[in-house]
Amino acid sequence: MNTLTHKKMILGITGSIAAYKSADLVRRLREQGADVRVVMTAAATKFITPLTLQAVSGQRVHIHLLDVHAEAAMGHIELARWAEVVLIAPCSADFLAKLTYGQADDLLSTLCLATTAPISVAPAMNQQMWQAPITQENCQRLQQRGLKILGPTSGSQACGETGIGRMLDPLELVHCLQDLFQSGPLQGKKVLITAGPTREDIDPVRFISNRSSGRMGYAIAEAALAQGAQVTLVSGPVSLSPPSGVHKVSVYSAQDMYEAVMTYIPTTDIFIAVAAVADYRPVQQATQKLKKNEAHLQLNLERTPDILATVANLPTPPFTVGFAAETHHLADYAHSKLKHKKLDMIVANLVGIEGIGFESEDNALSIFWNGGSIELPRKSKKELANQLLEIIIERFLRVCS
Ligand code: C5P
Repeated sequence: MNTLTHKKMILGITGSIAAYKSADLVRRLREQGADVRVVMTAAATKFITPLTLQAVSGQRVHIHLLDVHAEAAMGHIELARWAEVVLIAPCSADFLAKLTYGQADDLLSTLCLATTAPISVAPAMNQQMWQAPITQENCQRLQQRGLKILGPTSGSQACGETGIGRMLDPLELVHCLQDLFQSGPLQGKKVLITAGPTREDIDPVRFISNRSSGRMGYAIAEAALAQGAQVTLVSGPVSLSPPSGVHKVSVYSAQDMYEAVMTYIPTTDIFIAVAAVADYRPVQQATQKLKKNEAHLQLNLERTPDILATVANLPTPPFTVGFAAETHHLADYAHSKLKHKKLDMIVANLVGIEGIGFESEDNALSIFWNGGSIELPRKSKKELANQLLEIIIERFLRVCS
């Protein structure tokens, strides 16, 4: 279950150049099913128009405190009561100060005083302003009162300086908010999943790939989300939509998948490699379509990087789960992979059997870990994914706590 679905949310926008990102933020929040009402300060309207926010939110934008018409429709107290969560993004240094001292001289600051909903703020300002002792003091006081400060992050700033003060990206803010509402044994944990096939180009029109549909990996991503995890799904080309709330990274080749995984792995708690990664790729990719001039054509292939083995052999690897799709000797191959790739767990399934495995709705799994194993008989991939997740969580909590 996506934690932002049907959440009643006030997005407060204050006067900062990062306000241009707020339109995208509204879109991202709505994608997650949140019901977003935008409240802007007067300064915010100088950076982005209320019309833009009205278009992306599909709702009237609230700006004025003492507006007879607005108060007749949904007054400030009503709006404050309606909200289940308040996010102020971007939050300027001035607004941080206002919040700290409890001022109520405009609609947004008044709402913040009047609401009992949890408030999160995403500061955005010049790095010197962020570092100013009074700003830091204000943040500390707000945190002591239970407000969440999301970011800021570092990087180049609109003012030409470089440093801490950039607002978090809309997608990062969405993830932070999801974390706030998550519950379940994987709350606060990051799960990285690979899924689907990869494609290894031979020439501009041909590639080597396999019959993986991605269904198992996508079902596992949904199951991990339901257990409270923050899920990133690195997916090869498939015709599935990711479960809402999952951060999907689309990749094409094994090399792309390797690079995407390595980007996210440092902050990953559990890595589940479900993808059917191509083991070989053409040494050279023809820049033009190959012609059928000869009776025989030989392709020179080389190994792709073994993503799973690379992750499992990192100095501080996450809890690592591999998959093994085999046509025979399932248990033997699975045991040998568990040991040689130094995995925490391996999930084996038979392929080449009518009705289960690649391209099927169903599967049957044999799960092995050091000192134990369990069989999950034929079921839908969704049901199996939920059962598998429970087993992973039990082993993860045992090994990593
Ligand atoms: O050794 P084998 O390819 O059978 O191992 C399968 C497991 O390794 C799967 O979990 C798959 O996602 C992963 N794998 C990988 N990178 C590769 C090949 C396989 O991560 N290049």
